[in-house]
Amino acid sequence: MVAEIIDGKRIAEEVRADLTSRLGRLVTKGVTPGLAAVLVGDNPASQLYVKMKGKACEEMGMDHWTVTMPKDASETRLLQEIDRLNADPKVHGILVQQPLPSQISTETAVAAVDPRKDVDCFHPENVGLVLIGVPRFAPATPAGVVELLVRSGHDPGGKHVVILGRSNIVGKPLAALLFQKARGANATVTVAHSATRDLAEHTLRADILVAAMGQPEFVRASMVRPGAIVIDVGTSRVPDASKKQGYRTVGDVKFDEVREVAGAITPVPGGVGPMTIAMLLRNTVQAAESTAGAPPG
Ligand code: GUN
Repeated sequence: MVAEIIDGKRIAEEVRADLTSRLGRLVTKGVTPGLAAVLVGDNPASQLYVKMKGKACEEMGMDHWTVTMPKDASETRLLQEIDRLNADPKVHGILVQQPLPSQISTETAVAAVDPRKDVDCFHPENVGLVLIGVPRFAPATPAGVVELLVRSGHDPGGKHVVILGRSNIVGKPLAALLFQKARGANATVTVAHSATRDLAEHTLRADILVAAMGQPEFVRASMVRPGAIVIDVGTSRVPDASKKQGYRTVGDVKFDEVREVAGAITPVPGGVGPMTIAMLLRNTVQAAESTAGAPPG
């Protein structure tokens, strides 16, 4: 079997197209949704992600700002910047790009963002709301994975989903979304991680396997049940002398090998990445609707 390729770029376009009428209504009311990104340091991958988020806002006709800070910026300086954005009525969504340099506590930074502007859904209050099944925002990458599954015809309802990785950004919130009694959820969820024994024993039982542990090309064909749906959340740069930039971007799945056994698979790039951005845009529109007193829809 050769797997169906799930086209995240095309599906993200669908999500973005669904936003245009909501955006139009806001603009009629004189509100342009605005997203502010805070980038600390000069991590090239983070710089690229923030640039892509800004470009996506521009394409949609939304406002965006990028606040850049040097890699040795103090936590106090970052908190001041976050406070300024919290207080700015033109800023509806704030994201602090991770990873942050070691002198800054990620927990402190995340908790400093006004929960009503927390379009990443990283604030503890918003994480808690997701867990109890009454989300304010959808966590961007996990919601992107769910949307990708549903829109490609692989609804997780009743399926066994095995998630590799327990990060606060992907693994934990994705598990919290998938086991809810809700549309696009109702899955049986296993979360495997670095202390899991006999990993393949778990992965081979997955109807849907989500790789989100940040280990380039970790998932091999021997770990995948024939016909399973494989979602690759990883993005790593590996050295490649044949490329102009000197590297290529790979996921957590050995794509060429796994596509021979999987029923469907997401590529990297062009799978989950564009969905994360689409969900971020959706959350920013939603945040703007809340402040404009418009019903979400
Ligand atoms: N780092 C990796 N993924 C993300 C994300 O979705 N949002 C932010 N802010 N940082 C990240």
